[in-house]
Amino acid sequence: MKIGIFDSGIGGLIIMKAIKDHLPQYDMVYLGDTLHLPYGGRSSDAIYKYTESAIDYLFRKKNCNLIIIACNTASATALRRIQQQYLVRNFPNRRVLGVVIPTLETVVEKYANKRIGLLATEALVNSGIYQEELQKLAPNMKIFAQASPLLVPLIENGGDKWAKDILQEYLAPLLEKNIDVLVLACTHYPFLIPYLKEILPENIAIISQDSIIPNKLANYLKRHPEIDNKLDKNTNDCFYVSDITKNYVRTAKYIYKQDIKLEKLVL
Ligand code: DGL
Repeated sequence: MKIGIFDSGIGGLIIMKAIKDHLPQYDMVYLGDTLHLPYGGRSSDAIYKYTESAIDYLFRKKNCNLIIIACNTASATALRRIQQQYLVRNFPNRRVLGVVIPTLETVVEKYANKRIGLLATEALVNSGIYQEELQKLAPNMKIFAQASPLLVPLIENGGDKWAKDILQEYLAPLLEKNIDVLVLACTHYPFLIPYLKEILPENIAIISQDSIIPNKLANYLKRHPEIDNKLDKNTNDCFYVSDITKNYVRTAKYIYKQDIKLEKLVL
């Protein structure tokens, strides 16, 4: 059985590659729902429906035993219902994990009592999930969240030359709050790190989830041998998307530093 990595698009490949670099022996299947991207401006109902079909596909057709929802927007909107209803009814012995809690655990551990800023999609910010979960982990800490609806379309469409101006606009309210740390709570945003470094004062740390999730997954697998023992090792990874464009193929190559065979599937 395999580890499935799900994202609304191709940005989640950054997480998958980081996991592969850390845990090279595990066989993984990537699914990017590029046909329905961006999720960030959609309703909760639509995000849930798309996420459930992708998860269902990875379990039924690709024999996954464990799925990581790399997409923050889908983690915020669909994960609880997937865990509490879909899994219980369909695959009680398999697991689906998200990225919100592992990210917050790391932030709390490394930046206790610091002022945290968060850049994310509109749906994620509206869900309030980071604030809600942080309240449970560290009630004295605060997160200032900024919705950044133009960033995903900008990245998807090669709009680099506008990136700095748009980021400046989105970062201004966070800088006013005197943040110490900026969490990139979207799979696409690591592409913006060079621009963020130019804009942000040096003392503001940038947290990208590809530096968090691989360790957290390794730790989870150690604590859950019943899941780990069923996972295949040392064959091939597969990459599926619900729509293929030249830009996706190019982006996948940019992330992996080699050609990736993206296959189209019908969800
Ligand atoms: N992958 C999504 C996330 O991490 C963002 C892209 C989208 O809007 O679909 O939140």
